[in-house]
Amino acid sequence: MNKLQFCGFNIYSIYIGNDIVNSSKILSEFYLQKNKHLYSHYINNRWENIYLTPILVPSVLPLLTFATSFAKKTFKQKLIIPHELYGFEKNEFWFNIAKPGESTELHNHKAKSSISGVFYLKVPENSGNIIFTSGKKHKFEIEAKPSNIILFPSLLNHYVPKNRSCLERISLSFNCFKFPLDKSQMAYGYEKSKYFSL
Ligand SMILES: [Fe+2]
Repeated sequence: MNKLQFCGFNIYSIYIGNDIVNSSKILSEFYLQKNKHLYSHYINNRWENIYLTPILVPSVLPLLTFATSFAKKTFKQKLIIPHELYGFEKNEFWFNIAKPGESTELHNHKAKSSISGVFYLKVPENSGNIIFTSGKKHKFEIEAKPSNIILFPSLLNHYVPKNRSCLERISLSFNCFKFPLDKSQMAYGYEKSKYFSL
């Protein structure tokens, strides 16, 4: 595990062995269920977030369990990644595909979550690292490595530059909420108008 510091915030990165999280199985379930994908965030001519119920992509469950426990230990908070199998309407994990030439603009996940993370399923060379920013001057780049998780405070701004490889890059992101969720968070769910099936 690597503990990194950026502008007073802790960021963690850890490799997860294939015996715990099977990336190729996650990817095959993901592709198999293509007609069930739900899309959000249409930015620069592409849908950035792709959602699937964990019922159809059960291989993500060991990843979510590992990520939650890793986040709890490192950030010393009671946390949960909400999803349907815990009785929530919304699944707080999503896939992101960046084709050659595509990028992810500066954003953060601070709306309601506390800790966020990304797991790298398929990252060809030169397909883009995650870059955290603070103000206009400070930038911090972390290499995207296959089977690695990066955990960071949800309020940290970040982006991924253009995929300069000739292959697609696939990652899985998630949000950890402080547990128990407060009343407004308990009631939250999909705003149907924001999610689309193609
Ligand atoms: Fe993000």
